[in-house]
Amino acid sequence: MRKAGLITGGALVAAGKAIHAGMSTKELDKVIHNFITAHGAKPSFLGYSGYPASACISVNDTVIHGIPSAHEKLKDGDIVSVDVGAYIDGFHGDSAYTFKVGEVDPKTQALLDATEESLYMAISMAKPGVRIGDLSAAIQEYNESRGFGVVREYVGHGVGRELHEEPEVPNFGRSGHGVRLIPGMVIAIEPMITLGKPSVKVLSDGWTVKTRDASLAAHFEHTIAITSDGAIILTKPE
Ligand code: MF3
Ligand code: CO
Repeated sequence: MRKAGLITGGALVAAGKAIHAGMSTKELDKVIHNFITAHGAKPSFLGYSGYPASACISVNDTVIHGIPSAHEKLKDGDIVSVDVGAYIDGFHGDSAYTFKVGEVDPKTQALLDATEESLYMAISMAKPGVRIGDLSAAIQEYNESRGFGVVREYVGHGVGRELHEEPEVPNFGRSGHGVRLIPGMVIAIEPMITLGKPSVKVLSDGWTVKTRDASLAAHFEHTIAITSDGAIILTKPE
């Protein structure tokens, strides 16, 4: 699964290098598609439940599942969440990163920092015996204590031969509850955090998820493998 994860992480690095003001989200999707296929993998999302692109590209108040468009141009000060999956040799990788287009204001930076830090905190906690609820509660507390909203409707998940497997990995919950981690498990942890209220809505395209209050949202995700002495980040780029 490291092979799928490396291509996934590499596609996000390529996306980060390509992002600039004036670029359309469709052009960005093309960069990602080309990276994945050039490395002999298939984009996990393309055709998944009819999804029409290789990456989900979610700008500003779009939380997740933004559909790339030739009409949507990135501009200075935007935040853009890029979610990528790659499939090779029978397994998937799944990872997301929220990039800045130029500079953002301090509140937005704090949102990006907290979301990413809460992901790495959960990864550092993940080892055999720890329960999913321990990770969920830690992510929730980290973000809510800073005044941010934790999206409830979408969660992390197991990853393997399918993109989405058991167990669910919520970003909210109670420590001491849920499945216990054991060596060999692979899960995607993916906090989706808002600058305002946590409520979201799905647009009429059936995919795009936006905050109801139009507040900005961040999304960071890694696929990790549980080993006897902790977690390996499978989607960490080289
Ligand atoms: N990357 C999403 C996740 O983290 C799934 C994308 S939905 C798709 O679970 F349809 F675009 F594949
Ligand atoms: Co995922």
